[in-house]
Amino acid sequence: MSTTLTINGSAHTVDLPDDVPLLWVLRDELGMTGTKFGCGVAACGACTVHIDGEAVRSCQVALADVWGDVTTIEGLGQPENLHALQAAWVEHQVAQCGYCQSGQIMQAADLLSRLPNPSDQDIDDAMAGNLCRCGTYDRIRAAIKTAASTLQEA
Ligand code: FES
Ligand code: FES
Repeated sequence: MSTTLTINGSAHTVDLPDDVPLLWVLRDELGMTGTKFGCGVAACGACTVHIDGEAVRSCQVALADVWGDVTTIEGLGQPENLHALQAAWVEHQVAQCGYCQSGQIMQAADLLSRLPNPSDQDIDDAMAGNLCRCGTYDRIRAAIKTAASTLQEA
């Protein structure tokens, strides 16, 4: 059946079964491959996107259940106008293999929208479900703090 989603500010109509996970819609149907498939069972966070600004695991949200506007890593910032988190990720050279990092950034963006000045514990709590096999956690925490400072100065 035909479903129209708003993704990164644009309407996209897809003709897919209701139970297809949003992650598959984004990657396989719409070619938005910045969002990654890691586990498919809500255990890694690689597939994290926002629905109405809230971080969700797109592998766990069926197409028919998407309740609002979707934002993916492609919509968070642009190469010429990076989101503060993306700029901080570059500054701290956070990525190693990079596979988990779009999910990490989307989860961090949700955190900073709720808690503009998070403590170490706030960061650890918010990011606990986003795994990084390369162990970049210290750089992720540092980059989140840098982005928080940037956003508070803006
Ligand atoms: S792919 Fe969705 S949480 Fe791992
Ligand atoms: S940078 Fe490799 S999994 Fe996180």
